[in-house]
Amino acid sequence: MPNDPVPDPASDSPTAHGAGPCARHGIAPWCRRVRQRLTPERWAHVVRVAELAERIARANRFTEDELRDTVLAAVLHDAARDLEDDRLAELAPPERPEERAHPMILHGRAARALAASWGIDAPRVLGAIEGHVAGVAPDDRVGTAVYVADVSEPGRGVNADVRELALHDLRSAYATAVRRKVDHLRACGKPVHPTTLEVHDSLVPDRS
Ligand SMILES: [Fe+2]
Repeated sequence: MPNDPVPDPASDSPTAHGAGPCARHGIAPWCRRVRQRLTPERWAHVVRVAELAERIARANRFTEDELRDTVLAAVLHDAARDLEDDRLAELAPPERPEERAHPMILHGRAARALAASWGIDAPRVLGAIEGHVAGVAPDDRVGTAVYVADVSEPGRGVNADVRELALHDLRSAYATAVRRKVDHLRACGKPVHPTTLEVHDSLVPDRS
């Protein structure tokens, strides 16, 4: 038999994206673990988020530690996104009426619980995983990079301006993304999570 290269599962590229974030040292095992829990479409989203989060981190001169935490949190952020409502509630018991009414809000906290159960203990990574749904403190660089990458990755077809802005000014991009989310939820008549409102009001105190 010819010398066809045998793919190494440890460096298995999740999509046709070349090396990609999952080729980073120490990230591949997490990619495999998350990938098997998600639909192919959701996994493709996760890879795009991780790729964009890495670009944002580099553009904003993150340290190597911040960069690694950003990619890891991006890979893990939607680990619970395809779970049933009752499993979400098991992993992240609802604490507020809107969380009971809309269990999908729990998928960030549920992913955090999953990651913690898998041995992830870095508060910065766990905070970014949880915070990708309701928001993080504006000075949390890792958390804001993941949040912005999640809402503006190219597959979503929206927020291209936020994506571009994040490559120059992450904080402004985050403020725009949070404001847009709140405006959108209000326009749909959907409840805004108190954490999101808190972040929103701290970023744009003059808006009512
Ligand atoms: Fe996501």
